[in-house]
Amino acid sequence: MWFTIVLLGLLPQLTLSVRCTSGCVCDIRGLAKCTGDSITDIPPLDPTTTFLLMLNNTNIKILKNRSFQPFSLLLRLMITNSTLDTIQPEAFHGASQLLSIKLSSNSLSVFPLRVFSEQSELQQLQLDGNQIASVSSQLFETTVNLTELNLSKNRISQLDADVFQHLTKLNHLYLADNQLRNLPGSLFHNLRQLKSLVLSSNQLETLESGSFDHLSNLLVLMLQKNKIRKIPPRLFWHLPSLITLTMSSNQLRYLPAESFYYLFNLTKLTLYKNPLLTLPDQLMGHMPRLQELYLYETNLSTVPWNLFANMTNLRFLNLHFNTRLTSLPKNLFCCLPKLKKLSLKNNNLRELDQELFSNLISLQILMLNENKLESLPSAIFRNTSKLELLDLNHNHLRYLPGDVFVHARALKDLFLSNNKWNCDCSILGIAEWIRENLKLISDLDKGVTCYEPYQLKNHQLQSLTYKQLRCGVFQTTFMTTSAITTGAPLTPTPATSTTSIRTSTAATGTFTTPASLLSPTPDHIYVKRTNDPVFYDTIVLDNGPEIVHNNRYNGWVYLWTVPSTGPYSGFMMALYIVLLVTGVVLIVASLYALYRLHKVVWVLGNVTMGDNLKARRVRSFKVKL
Ligand SMILES: *[C@@H]1O[C@H](CO)[C@@H](O)[C@H](O)[C@H]1NC(C)=O
Ligand SMILES: *[C@@H]1O[C@H](CO)[C@@H](O)[C@H](O)[C@H]1NC(C)=O
Ligand SMILES: *[C@@H]1O[C@H](CO)[C@@H](O)[C@H](O)[C@H]1NC(C)=O
Ligand SMILES: *[C@@H]1O[C@H](CO)[C@@H](O)[C@H](O)[C@H]1NC(C)=O
Ligand SMILES: *[C@@H]1O[C@H](CO)[C@@H](O)[C@H](O)[C@H]1NC(C)=O
Ligand SMILES: *[C@@H]1O[C@H](CO)[C@@H](O)[C@H](O)[C@H]1NC(C)=O
Ligand SMILES: *[C@@H]1O[C@H](CO)[C@@H](O)[C@H](O)[C@H]1NC(C)=O
Ligand SMILES: *[C@@H]1O[C@H](CO)[C@@H](O)[C@H](O)[C@H]1NC(C)=O
Ligand SMILES: *[C@@H]1O[C@H](CO)[C@@H](O)[C@H](O)[C@H]1NC(C)=O
Repeated sequence: MWFTIVLLGLLPQLTLSVRCTSGCVCDIRGLAKCTGDSITDIPPLDPTTTFLLMLNNTNIKILKNRSFQPFSLLLRLMITNSTLDTIQPEAFHGASQLLSIKLSSNSLSVFPLRVFSEQSELQQLQLDGNQIASVSSQLFETTVNLTELNLSKNRISQLDADVFQHLTKLNHLYLADNQLRNLPGSLFHNLRQLKSLVLSSNQLETLESGSFDHLSNLLVLMLQKNKIRKIPPRLFWHLPSLITLTMSSNQLRYLPAESFYYLFNLTKLTLYKNPLLTLPDQLMGHMPRLQELYLYETNLSTVPWNLFANMTNLRFLNLHFNTRLTSLPKNLFCCLPKLKKLSLKNNNLRELDQELFSNLISLQILMLNENKLESLPSAIFRNTSKLELLDLNHNHLRYLPGDVFVHARALKDLFLSNNKWNCDCSILGIAEWIRENLKLISDLDKGVTCYEPYQLKNHQLQSLTYKQLRCGVFQTTFMTTSAITTGAPLTPTPATSTTSIRTSTAATGTFTTPASLLSPTPDHIYVKRTNDPVFYDTIVLDNGPEIVHNNRYNGWVYLWTVPSTGPYSGFMMALYIVLLVTGVVLIVASLYALYRLHKVVWVLGNVTMGDNLKARRVRSFKVKL
């Protein structure tokens, strides 16, 4: 039983192995693989069974005239990672059926001009990883069926304008890792079928205008890792099919306006590692398919507000490591409803507008770490209900509003360590939130701790007590109308304790009352806590102004106060007296009316029991009334 299984296992190998020369492995499909230092020339294989010849890691130094003439069936030839340095002028003659020639990773430096003159069927030519310094147009004169040409990893420093002129069927051209300094403007003009053009890792400093104008089928254009200082306007305007454009790691400081217009199919754009100083107001055209944008390690200090306005499909945006980026326009992310990940880490951001993220309704990951943020507006995450990960570590956070994360209901990972928490009364709200949501904080062990005051330094936020914060008594001034939220901190900016309490927009009146409008002898409200465990459940007015009204609505406590010496107090007092007098008059009047009514009812009662005479008496009584 078991040996039949073994036999069945061996069967495919038996049928596939074919008689072969030493150093080679051949299979029934016509593939011959030869490796080893002992191989110094094309091995004497059976020409009637070899369709594909792979020679790897061999010692072949020279390809002699008509080396492949006997192999009349050979379609694909590979001589890779060998010591090949010489090709005789007629090496490939007599093998016009060849479809691909791969001579990668050898030591080839010069090619006889007419070495491929019989290769009109050739589709694939890979010459990458050699020492080629120049190529002549004659080399490709007859290889008109070529679709793929790889010249990467060579030493080419310049190319003649006509070198590729016959390659009208070329789909893929790889010129990466060479020493090209410039390119003739018409170099690619005949390559109308080109789908990918890779020019990365060269020494290119400029590109001539019109260079890519005829490449209407181009899908991929790679220009990264060059020294491009500037690009001409409209360079990419005639690439309607382009899907990927990479321009990272260059020397671009400026980009011409409207550079990326008419790239309707672009899905990926990289611009990172360029010393960009500013971007033009109109840069990005309509890009409904763009999904990834990389714009980091630049010298930008800000960006135009509409930079991303035309990219409604963007999923990933990396705008980080821009060490000079200090501010972002508030509408910058206005039109990115599908953005999932936004990285703003390692910038120099100091503050963020409360509307900044208000349209990022799909955002899941937000990196804000390693900036200089001191606080965040309480409404900043109002509309990011899908946010799962938020990194705020290594900022200068001194304070956060207690309700800042309330709307980020999907939050799972929050990083808050290494900030400059100022543990005074204003920290209460967020400290309370942290205590209630400890499992969301992913870096508690790295220290979410007070930075100041000195006596609380390194104290963990979540274990702060009311007493430690010395919140017993503090002062705040009211002008006309103020409100205190039960969830938000009482003084958002501790330094401005003499201005009004910042409050909910639901309350009436002005909250950012300029200091000049405040009454000269401001009234104080002393808000005192009664018991430690719950922070904002009770507000006791110890020594308030004369007229105080408080009310609770939706978890907010509203306080209406009027300063005792202010211009309103006289008026209010007069109003109060008028109301009081009116009240007393009304009460007296209604008592009198009740008395009269009682009398009438009594008389009517007598009428129902008595005769007509009595009734007549009542009528006369009524007249008297
Ligand atoms: C050549 O052999 C090396 C191992 O030495 C292998 O990594 C490589 O893929 C081979 N190349 C080809 C083209 O088969
Ligand atoms: C290239 O060949 C050398 C020697 O034959 C071998 O040591 C090396 O691993 C090969 N490298 C690759 C990438 O095939
Ligand atoms: C190879 O062919 C060229 C002509 O195409 C000739 O000049 C040369 O001598 C030949 N080399 C050998 C070794 O036959
Ligand atoms: C090129 O390829 C086409 C089909 O792809 C074929 O018909 C033609 O014979 C080939 N050779 C030349 C020289 O065009
Ligand atoms: C072209 O050559 C480079 C360098 O050897 C290589 O990395 C790349 O994969 C090649 N491209 C193709 C399509 O074979
Ligand atoms: C853009 O892509 C779509 C779908 O991939 C394709 O149908 C369309 O032809 C492309 N547009 C251009 C101008 O290539
Ligand atoms: C969006 O692209 C169109 C052209 O495609 C352009 O007219 C418009 O100014 C662009 N909008 C922004 C905000 O850049
Ligand atoms: C860009 O910034 C880097 C480091 O911040 C600096 O070395 C470089 O000179 C700046 N480049 C320009 C063009 O300002
Ligand atoms: C936030 O979302 C609400 C509805 O969810 C919407 O009405 C409001 O316009 C959004 N805010 C902004 C600034 O877009």
